Amino acid sequence: MLNLVLFGPPGAGKGTQAEFLEKNFNLIHLSTGDLLRTEIAAKTHLGIEAKKNIDKGELVPDSVVVDMIKGKLNAHPTANGFIFDGFPRTVAQAKALDQLLEEHGTDLSAMLCLQVEKQELIDRLLNRGLTSGRSDDQDRAIIENRISVYEHKTAPLIEFYKAQGKYVPVEGMGTVEEIADKLVRSVKAL
Ligand code: AP5
Repeated sequence: MLNLVLFGPPGAGKGTQAEFLEKNFNLIHLSTGDLLRTEIAAKTHLGIEAKKNIDKGELVPDSVVVDMIKGKLNAHPTANGFIFDGFPRTVAQAKALDQLLEEHGTDLSAMLCLQVEKQELIDRLLNRGLTSGRSDDQDRAIIENRISVYEHKTAPLIEFYKAQGKYVPVEGMGTVEEIADKLVRSVKAL
């Protein structure tokens, strides 16, 4: 199986690039952000609770996202592999992912880390906020908090995956197509 963590700060292009990887390598794309927004749209209890965190740019509890990923892995027993987008975001989530993959008789192939300058992240998200309706893109202070949460709670995962020999940095500045090409080449080189 080919199991990829597509990693990077808010606005790095994880969702955009996951679509290319999904098609090129016939993988299942699992975005915890998309799964949470589906719950919010359906006004489930989980969605109502998660929205309180998301609207402030804070993380939802680890147990919530780990359970969602566990359910999706169980639902696709014959998959070629998975792209994890926006997950893991804490060391606890990364350890849970390792355990879940082990229970499925597989492991993580690589953590692809998109590298984008902070001002570009803010510009992309403010721009998307004009049309997307995403509550967490509407306000510069919330966007900056999301980036700060990434720097404090999520970026430490870079060291976690470096220690596993699975960290693959990828330049995330440039056109969508240029970055997709770099990602596909990085995966083929694994
Ligand atoms: P999530 O949905 O994962 O949001 P995010 O990480 O903040 O990432 P984004 O979706 O904003 O950015 P992206 O990197 O996917 O970039 P995209 O391709 O969209 O999470 C939202 C919230 O849910 C979190 O804040 C948290 O509260 C909660 N959550 C989710 N997962 C969680 C977890 N595991 N644990 C706890 N809480 C969790 O691109 C962004 C924009 O840039 C788009 O408009 C796009 O068109 C544009 N763009 C992309 N590439 C380029 C390019 N090369 N040039 C110019 N523009 C570009």
